[in-house]
Amino acid sequence: MCGIVGYTGSKMAFPIVISGLKRLEYRGYDSTGVALLNDGLKVYKKKGRVADLENAIIGKDLHGHTGIGHTRWATHGEPNDKNAHPHSSASGKLVMIHNGIIENYAQLKKELVNKGYVFSSDTDSEILLNFIEEIKENNQCNLEEALRIALKRVTGTYVILLLDAENPDTIIAARKGSPLVIGVGKGEHFLGSDASPMLEYTKEVVYVNDYELAIVRPNELILKNLGNEQITPFVTKLDMELAAIEKGGYEHFMLKEIFEQPSTINDCLRGRLDAAAGTITMSGIENNITHFKNANRIIIVACGTSWHAALLAEYIIEELCRIPVEVEYASEFRYRNPIINKGDIIIAISQSGETADTLVAIERAKENGAIIFGVVNVVGSSIARISDGGAYTHAGPEIGVASTKTFTGQLAVLVMMALKIANEKGTISEDRYKNLLLELEAVPEKVDAILKSAEQLKTIALKYKDASDALYLGRGYNFPIALEGALKLKEISYIHAEGYPAAEMKHGPIALVDENLPVVFIATKDLYHEKIVSNIQEIKARKGKVIAIITEGDEIIPGMADDVFFVPFADDIIAPMLSSIPMQLLSYYIGIAKGVDVDKPRNLAKSVTVE
Ligand code: AGP
Repeated sequence: MCGIVGYTGSKMAFPIVISGLKRLEYRGYDSTGVALLNDGLKVYKKKGRVADLENAIIGKDLHGHTGIGHTRWATHGEPNDKNAHPHSSASGKLVMIHNGIIENYAQLKKELVNKGYVFSSDTDSEILLNFIEEIKENNQCNLEEALRIALKRVTGTYVILLLDAENPDTIIAARKGSPLVIGVGKGEHFLGSDASPMLEYTKEVVYVNDYELAIVRPNELILKNLGNEQITPFVTKLDMELAAIEKGGYEHFMLKEIFEQPSTINDCLRGRLDAAAGTITMSGIENNITHFKNANRIIIVACGTSWHAALLAEYIIEELCRIPVEVEYASEFRYRNPIINKGDIIIAISQSGETADTLVAIERAKENGAIIFGVVNVVGSSIARISDGGAYTHAGPEIGVASTKTFTGQLAVLVMMALKIANEKGTISEDRYKNLLLELEAVPEKVDAILKSAEQLKTIALKYKDASDALYLGRGYNFPIALEGALKLKEISYIHAEGYPAAEMKHGPIALVDENLPVVFIATKDLYHEKIVSNIQEIKARKGKVIAIITEGDEIIPGMADDVFFVPFADDIIAPMLSSIPMQLLSYYIGIAKGVDVDKPRNLAKSVTVE
């Protein structure tokens, strides 16, 4: 949440900062601002998107070789010009941008108000900045020292970047609980919430850790801990190309990412799955195989779409590996007092690898002796780094706020993990194992076939775009897909939607059914097919409108449903990877028809780094 970017070097900072902000806009887009250091500080900020700021500063002085920028997802204080970052200190000599939440801001504010400070915004960030300045002036120390003292008093999360009018060419940064990447160039440095702002300039990056402070100058990068001890920066080579974060001719990132799925799933399987040889190679599992084989239980923690992948993993792991699995919302798990036994395996599923609740949940579990296994998309992210083992989803950067290709990537990884463990434990027959490997191998091709019929979903979307509510129903492996379908529709079209196990409908939601209610059934050919046919009848008997996602060759449901969309046949365990695609497309086309900015729907941010 909130995107931060910085540059110091021989180039003009503004163009680099502004294009970096455009790439980080997925992290929040309530307001935008930049500060430039050039013989004094210049600050420009505006409510709204990066484009709104660009329009507002036409003709202004944008010179400066050092600059910072911020795109905001509001926590403290509504989105408006005065709450936009950067904030200026009372003296005007310091400016700061902040991503995170200062939890003890009220106490710090009280102390500053007693000393006569007046604030011009409603943000916790402005309080922190003035707290730092107060320490600097009181102690007659430099900014770095003042920051170190201040951070020892702060509770909460932060990435902050600071500029000091009296300290040319220098950006001072600190991190706790939110991501910070520093790009190392020749006589220049780049800072970002992720590596996207620096991709065309350098592939060498340093991931800053919690409780570290960075002093960044064109030719110098000093990393220290809060105890003022110097740390050697660990430089990592980025494995990402610019094309991966561009739209590539698609109207929206979301559409591009939906259509990328045949190749992203392939990337996820490549080098791991060898159906002909009957093998799955996953070093993260192999290194921990004894733990997995002996595990008394697995707990999976995640949020949002990743939680839906977790729910599906519960069904799959319990069926194939016969290990009890519990699925937890990370935000609940971290605050209740769960029983964690030494040797318990905690799987954390996260696209970003930075979701605050998931991160803290696994930190707690780790303290209690659990083994942490991360299923993460963003390489080098916090969750990936603190996990004891893991498997990347290899879906590439996902810019659209709605998770699409990373969800199917998560499912592919989780199915492979379950198959690998089941095979090692001997809880799966040789025939089923081999058949599932072949089924998995065929997924990219089947997804490709589904995408070729995308236009049919556009037609269905236009029929239902004005609905005010929708129900999504599925059974067994398709139940988590019903939840995911409902989440996608809410996010992208602002239509209220609920996902339920189809049989649960009779225990309440059926009261909502009338001739205006679209009910989406995920009813592919599986164990429950006859049961779900009955559920469709029950909805039709009450005049509900049925949209059914069904398997090619199904001759029963087309006669009952108002609209159908066919997907190729697949084993029950594999089918969700296919049925999730029409869920994504239906939401996308409804969102577009309603004029929603689907890549940046209101109130949302891609990476939820505050709790
Ligand atoms: C879904 O479309 C959202 N992007 C959201 O629910 C997301 O899945 C959730 O915030 C968890 O994010 P993570 O996977 O990065 O941890």
